[in-house]
Amino acid sequence: MATADKEVETTGLTGWIDRRFPLTSTWKKHVSEYYAPKNFNFWYFFGSLALLVLVNQIVTGIFLTMNYKPDATLAFASVEYIMREVPWGWLIRYMHSTGASMFFVVVYLHMFRGLLYGSYRKPRELVWVFGCAIFLCLMAEAFFGYLLPWGQMSFWGAQVIVNLFSAIPFIGPDLSLWIRGDYVVSDVTLNRFFAFHVIAIPLVLIGLVVAHLVALHEVGSNNPDGVEIKAKKDANGIPLDGIPFHPYYSVHDFMGVCVFLLIFAAIIFFAPEMGGYFLEANNFVPANPLQTPSEIAPVWYFTAFYAMLRATTDPFKIVLMIVIALLGLLALVKARGKWKLGLPVLAVLVLIFMALTESKFWGVVVMGTAVVSLFFLPWLDRSPVKSIRYRPLFHKVFYAIFVFAFLMLGFLGTRPPSPAATLIAQICALIYFAFFLGMPFWTPRGKFKTPPERVHYKPH
Ligand code: HEM
Repeated sequence: MATADKEVETTGLTGWIDRRFPLTSTWKKHVSEYYAPKNFNFWYFFGSLALLVLVNQIVTGIFLTMNYKPDATLAFASVEYIMREVPWGWLIRYMHSTGASMFFVVVYLHMFRGLLYGSYRKPRELVWVFGCAIFLCLMAEAFFGYLLPWGQMSFWGAQVIVNLFSAIPFIGPDLSLWIRGDYVVSDVTLNRFFAFHVIAIPLVLIGLVVAHLVALHEVGSNNPDGVEIKAKKDANGIPLDGIPFHPYYSVHDFMGVCVFLLIFAAIIFFAPEMGGYFLEANNFVPANPLQTPSEIAPVWYFTAFYAMLRATTDPFKIVLMIVIALLGLLALVKARGKWKLGLPVLAVLVLIFMALTESKFWGVVVMGTAVVSLFFLPWLDRSPVKSIRYRPLFHKVFYAIFVFAFLMLGFLGTRPPSPAATLIAQICALIYFAFFLGMPFWTPRGKFKTPPERVHYKPH
């Protein structure tokens, strides 16, 4: 504080506030004197867009809550009331429902940028870990929110997902009963999901976003070259390749916001259901606990993980067991020290446990592990360079195959299951895990280009 007081010599109202609250110094530290690399490209729009969508969700959510009724006998009708009777209610609702899908579009692209440029590598591991926690919270937030309209898909989707927990050995049935608060999804479930959706998760989410940005501003932003700009500073300690966030990137991000809002408005006004991908047809039918819809599929942003869950059949469990046995053998031959015996023993224990438990449980484990693996990326990637630009060609091919497998899983999760689709989903799930598990082996290999000392930047 003392240094900030000396630096900040403001007068008038700002001065009055500054002597009581670090307003100007915070503005300088995080905005007007936050030096970001000058070579940000298209992929750097999505962080600020994620912030924008977060604000959109909170503001529209508050207005929806004013007319929504978290009661199983009233919820569906209250949403119809918002759509037809509340002035501009339809707009608020479509902004919220479209915002949910756009949140995932923006966050998936934001995460992909991290993957491309190695933004999760040292010293940004915590930025990434907070990001992964945000992703988990977002998934929970979307899941809880989806029950609230109390349509057929809301009801049966929640029923299917909560039932998954009952596959956990020993505690499963009690756990799913505890989550629901009833023997089936009911008014009790709706009330608690409402509480989580409107207050508990948003609070955690906002806290995590603040932590995400504080961690980022502590270490500084990465960039498409993966060069640490703090390594080369001028006499005043300002990075030679850095430019102040404001006005340079505030103007840049404002342009991104304008383009995003054009797309956002086009969807809201012309295709709010997005062909059933953003709002499913079955959710315009009130929840009926006595009639199961012929097809229960989650919203598109969950389908990649859902496809992995469905792909975990009995034969796939055997494939997984073979993979674990091979990894145990590999550890026996290659590992050193306490791992040499520890890992094979662990593999044997897991194999015994797998043999005794049903494949449905392992589907849940596979789905959970697919998300949790993301947390470990900073320690799995051992390549000597951060950015994809300086990696060998085969790394780029692996990235492309991984992205293709993930998109394929996402697509398959939207379709009804068939033997061929299950087989393809199983192959894609194996590719997904091989990408992460294999990272310590393939990422240090190949011929790397030497990254430049300073960032590449062509003014335009
Ligand atoms: C509510 C969701 C999120 C918000 C509001 C958010 C916000 C931001 C913002 C404003 C930035 C700085 C601008 C930029 O680099 O684009 C940033 C950077 C970053 N975010 Fe997020 N983020 C979110 C979710 C995530 C997730 C889910 C991940 C990864 C799992 C992630 C990983 C990162 C990383 C690694 C950086 C540093 C990028 C770099 O310097 O190259 N973020 N985030």
